Amino acid sequence: MTNTEETAALVSEAQIAVHWREEEYYYPSARFIAQANAADPRIYERFSEEHFPECFREYADLLDWDRYWHTTLDTTDPPFWKWFVGGRLNASYNCVDRHMEKSPNKAAIIWVPEPEEEATQAITYQELYRRVNEMAALLEGFCGLGPGDRVTLHMPMVPELPVVMLACARLGVIHSEVFAGFSGTACGGRIADSGSKVLITMDSYYRDGKVLDHKVKADEAVEAARKEGREVDKVLVFRRRPDEYHSASPMVQGRDYFVDEVMRDYAGKKVAPVSMPAEAPLFLMYTSGTTGRPKGAQHSTGGYLSYVAGTCKYFLDIHPDDTYWCFADIGWITGHSYIVYGPLSLGTTTVIYEGAPAFPDASRPWRIAERLGVNIFHTAPTTIRMLRKAGPELPAKHDFHFKLMVTVGEPIEPEVWRWYYDTVGKDEAVVVDTWWMTETGGFLGATLPAIKAMKPGSCGPAALGIYPAIYDEEGKAVDAGTGRAGNICIRNPWPGIMQTIWGQPERFVQTYYAKYNHDSASKDWHDWPFLCGDGAVQALDGYYRILGRIDDVINVAGHRLGTKELESAVLTVPEVAEAAAVPVIDELRGRVVEMYVSLKPGISASPELEDKAKAAIETEIGKVARPRNVWIVPDMPKTRSGKIMRRVIASISNFADVGDITTLANPDVVEGIRHHVQSQKLQRGDVPRQLTEKEMEEIRSFGNA
Ligand code: WTA
Repeated sequence: MTNTEETAALVSEAQIAVHWREEEYYYPSARFIAQANAADPRIYERFSEEHFPECFREYADLLDWDRYWHTTLDTTDPPFWKWFVGGRLNASYNCVDRHMEKSPNKAAIIWVPEPEEEATQAITYQELYRRVNEMAALLEGFCGLGPGDRVTLHMPMVPELPVVMLACARLGVIHSEVFAGFSGTACGGRIADSGSKVLITMDSYYRDGKVLDHKVKADEAVEAARKEGREVDKVLVFRRRPDEYHSASPMVQGRDYFVDEVMRDYAGKKVAPVSMPAEAPLFLMYTSGTTGRPKGAQHSTGGYLSYVAGTCKYFLDIHPDDTYWCFADIGWITGHSYIVYGPLSLGTTTVIYEGAPAFPDASRPWRIAERLGVNIFHTAPTTIRMLRKAGPELPAKHDFHFKLMVTVGEPIEPEVWRWYYDTVGKDEAVVVDTWWMTETGGFLGATLPAIKAMKPGSCGPAALGIYPAIYDEEGKAVDAGTGRAGNICIRNPWPGIMQTIWGQPERFVQTYYAKYNHDSASKDWHDWPFLCGDGAVQALDGYYRILGRIDDVINVAGHRLGTKELESAVLTVPEVAEAAAVPVIDELRGRVVEMYVSLKPGISASPELEDKAKAAIETEIGKVARPRNVWIVPDMPKTRSGKIMRRVIASISNFADVGDITTLANPDVVEGIRHHVQSQKLQRGDVPRQLTEKEMEEIRSFGNA
């Protein structure tokens, strides 16, 4: 394709008409409305554009400030917005101390280990206060960490993880938690990028009935960081079971330390929370980017904490006496915002579950909910689909009652939504579909549960104080109700937005603002729409339907995987010449990945090479990214300029029409690839169901953006 042809493809993609039946509305019960934190529709006026940015005081006032701010929003250095300037606070104080003073014996965290015979732990605010203080004393005294230092965490779903996060926050240390399912190599890249000298990990944890050796990944991580020029001084190792060490990896003298042993010197120690400027970074969260270097989304202390507290209060309707269970992993942004910082800042009880959703059977979540009296439940479509498939009738057998249920991370199909509402929610719970991303700290689109009706498959209108716009490729607004899709942007800054990409400010501007900013000298925030990275359509009622990523990202079971990262992982295999990752529609996981690989001259295809490619992905990224299939092809379909036509191979993998291939440099390779791939898939019984029109469009335009 020539450049003009490529641009034409982009334009038509943004103009795709989306045919998806409008769903009927569902309404909250009178009982829910009567107890809701936000039941008066005038709240939307309080957060309207004419009250911006002062409207966000309401969120910030949910926190205790050591010093109140003088400037709500400073826009002097666009697009590096500063919120609550002049203010000082401590996140750990706000999540722990102030609740400990009021209700020391209330459970802050209830931790459910995966093995069912192992006792559940209730950690009171008093106990959390003690643990956070001791850990902070250790980080300060033993590791010499202080404000502004970075520390990398590679921890599973255990209570030690929020304890360490809050201990860092107490000291003003910037934590960077890497999802435990990521490989040691991926963790090492993030250690190097953030400049951490300390890695905090755990020997092992439970997942799907197995004890996973996790400490081995720390050794790989330290090695990978060293290759990038970063020495790790200390590795702190928690033990999943006190005094037992479950790892094949030996402890390295002078580098590795068991936390329980070092802790003996810090037992009972207290550390005063450091009063941090509102703008001090609280944490980094790495997310998939389009190129090699990891992208560390940097989140602030004051703005971020205000935003997650405010959105928890109004959109999740969290009251201090609720028992709230979010089933995400703390290693992702959802866990940071809506397991740890948001719920604890409001002084509620947050449930943390260690393991797999359906272990040992698909009733496990319902047993947990019943036993703990969970009344707010938060999970992702992929989990809902899986629980529905494994046991559609199981929720009815358990005596739990949710007042509110959340879905996040992927679009939810209306029929899955309805099972969630009817069967899990028992027609009693409201469903809140929350749309947002790592970069945004908290929700961008969601219904205020007592005020707005639910509509299956749509996230709802914009969140309070968020003013979106959908633009076409030229920057012209796409109107609501036209059925046309475009790139959804947020026109204004909001407190939860990331501050920058750690160490890469130009990339921050380039990735999120360059597309629709036409005057880089402008100091007016109106000139800086934030590109969310999703395609969307808006219905006449103002509700948004999110269509998925417009960049090279594949959303597998709610995990964002960059195609470039997948491809560079496979390119570490010496025999591989070229690699391309494409999404395949999957009934349970939303999308799965298939890799197409071509080999260097003289090398022939073999099952061993397919396995090598899969293993490379596990090593470089982690098991979560393991592709379903690796197809070794003699040649990739390419444009005349040499670009791999991902839409063509994506169509083949999905049994969709490959479309017009006459402009390819090598159209003759397509039929051979199609025959090979589809006959293999038929043999393996791996054929997707009939795609919807919307899915078809996604596949046909994949890789154009
Ligand atoms: C997708 C997760 C549809 C979207 C919080 C976004 C959603 C990406 C929804 C961010 C939703 C998230 N409906 N799609 N309710 N929520 N997404 O950074 O494509 O892991 O860009 O943050 O997930 O993924 P991330």
